[in-house]
Amino acid sequence: MFPLKPRRLLRLQLLAVVPLIGCAHDVSQSTLHPAGPAAAEIAWLWWIMLGAFTGVFILVLALLCGAVFRGPARVATTPDGEPRRGSEPPLGSTGFIVAGGIVLPIVILTPLFLFSLRTSASLRQPPEALSIRVVGHMWWWEVRYPEQGIVTANEIHIPVGQPVRLELASADVIHSFWVPRLGGKRDMIPGIENEFWIQADEPGVYRGQCGEYCGTQHANMAFHVVALDPAEFESWLAARTEQRAEPEMLERGRGFQIFMSAGCGECHALGATRAKGSVGPDLTHFGSRRTIGAAMLSNSRGNLAGWIADPQAIKPGIRMPRTYLPADDLLTLAAFLEEQE
Ligand code: CUA
Repeated sequence: MFPLKPRRLLRLQLLAVVPLIGCAHDVSQSTLHPAGPAAAEIAWLWWIMLGAFTGVFILVLALLCGAVFRGPARVATTPDGEPRRGSEPPLGSTGFIVAGGIVLPIVILTPLFLFSLRTSASLRQPPEALSIRVVGHMWWWEVRYPEQGIVTANEIHIPVGQPVRLELASADVIHSFWVPRLGGKRDMIPGIENEFWIQADEPGVYRGQCGEYCGTQHANMAFHVVALDPAEFESWLAARTEQRAEPEMLERGRGFQIFMSAGCGECHALGATRAKGSVGPDLTHFGSRRTIGAAMLSNSRGNLAGWIADPQAIKPGIRMPRTYLPADDLLTLAAFLEEQE
């Protein structure tokens, strides 16, 4: 027996719908609000499938209602009330079985199959200019612009109106790269280099999310794609390629000394300074990033100080340990990192 009573089950189903209603107004990660050509193709296929299957659902319900309300077939009986031999109700006509069980599925599934083939073909990678390398880590995203020598994290800046080629890899377990409004989903598999592409037609900030369960903080492995007008994108690139401050100058400051003595440089790199760690995100232009902890917190000095002091309280299980610093040093360190634009 099914352990849930029907009414209880219905209540649970209604409860499950409530969070979905909540999703409706925030479209920053909605597949149904495509903002690029590949995502538009996928959304189009989704609507066609929804339409076809809604039709099938209604048809099945109609047949079910017909069967329920038609009532039992009359059976001729003998004077004793026994059914007369040869008068049992027919199990169903052959024509109905052939039409409903063979012809109808072929008529419905063949066009859907052809549509999905067409969608797959249109998702093929176009020739492109810009290449970006994205490496999945538990639980953040390393982002590299190999030709420009830029390294960043959890934020991918792209120019609008052109396809961007992505090289996808993983540093540990299987992750999956997914920006629902800009394209499909592609796995990041250890030891395998995958290729993918996205395109944004409008400037904006598009949220991405790891699409493959990869451990306790999988749900908090998010990122943003920032699509900029080509000119703005060029100036973004230029601002990152030019050397902001001489490494010697940076290293002489109090902030950098705290950074090193607290051990941050063991895991994080910082521009051309002697901080060269590669376990955690590169912090070279950290101050210009929108978020902390792979899109968990907005990037403010207060949030950053809290994060440095006890990242395990915010995102349990990550590799960054607590940092025991006097309050003054903690605030100086947070201010120093916020200055690294
Ligand atoms: Cu990475 Cu889920």
